Amino acid sequence: MFLKSAWYVAGWTSEFETGKLYTRRIIDEPLVMMRREDGTLVALEDRCPHRWAPLSLGRIEDDTIRCMYHGVRFGTNGRCVEVPGQASAPGALKARTYPVVERHQWAWIWMGEPEQADMSLIPDVSLLDREDVYMHRGELNYAANYNLINDNLLDLSHVAFVHEKTIGRKVEGDDEPNVVTGAGAQPLPRGVSNNNWSIGRTAMQAPDAPITDQWMWFSYLVPGIFINHFRTYPAGTAERLNFTEPSKDLECISDTFSIQAVTPLTERSTRYIYSGAHRKTDMSPEAAAAIFGMVDEAFREDTAMIEAQQRMIDTGPPGTMGWIQADRGLSLFRKVLDQLSAEERGATAARQTESA
Ligand code: FES
Ligand SMILES: [Fe+2]
Repeated sequence: MFLKSAWYVAGWTSEFETGKLYTRRIIDEPLVMMRREDGTLVALEDRCPHRWAPLSLGRIEDDTIRCMYHGVRFGTNGRCVEVPGQASAPGALKARTYPVVERHQWAWIWMGEPEQADMSLIPDVSLLDREDVYMHRGELNYAANYNLINDNLLDLSHVAFVHEKTIGRKVEGDDEPNVVTGAGAQPLPRGVSNNNWSIGRTAMQAPDAPITDQWMWFSYLVPGIFINHFRTYPAGTAERLNFTEPSKDLECISDTFSIQAVTPLTERSTRYIYSGAHRKTDMSPEAAAAIFGMVDEAFREDTAMIEAQQRMIDTGPPGTMGWIQADRGLSLFRKVLDQLSAEERGATAARQTESA
């Protein structure tokens, strides 16, 4: 079961060229996407309403798609415009269309009822437009349910263990791993947020780097959009601010962020799109590239653990998972998602009753 009334990331806007058909499967619905001559990106159900052949096997003709089974042609609004050998195009022969918005480098698709599409619900990922940073992009495909990936990103206590050789390795001289529990997560109307100070060095810093105070804050929004910032300040800043939030224009030593999207393809497959950025004035391009390489490796470590977890869920005996304090963030997020799904089911049932 997936939440339909949400904006899902179908990919980077740069993935879609004019004159080509792209297949996507999101929340188990087959889609065909194309960029029109005027640049507009559109999405239709990848199923010809005639005999259900995939429209993605068709061809583009003047901003329309001709199904290459029996040649019926559709406009990008889904309407049939031509049936070969037939005088008129039947109005009832209509392909489903989906609202698409390109915003801040990503193509967002609304999987719910088109008339309910609310652009104000598109998460603010405007950081992706920043030009004063080295920006790294990556993606991974998971053979796992998307909830497990959301869980992973919402519980950073795993970093010290899954990533003990990469981004979570112990800092030289430290006895204990630096565990970020995320236990302070707070609910938002469509997600959760968390912020905290930590003091010390990070695994990604050189061993002789000065000790800093680090402020991390993130929001995690449905269906699985992770907006994560990380800034370092001179030692003593956290105490001086009484461990409260630093103002956005307080000068920092380094400024880093990562924006990620978890897009469910099917119940057991997920596309994970991520980005990471470091302010150019903080480091050399080589240093940024070295960090990005380590992050790519770390994300493959997540994939291995989560896919193994999924296999255990699918093949192990039934039971109930345990709970620790670090699960607060993921529990809150799942609660928000469940609540929105319940509201959606209620609204759908009400509409059905009305139209019966
Ligand atoms: S299935 Fe598409 S035209 Fe017949
Ligand atoms: Fe991880």
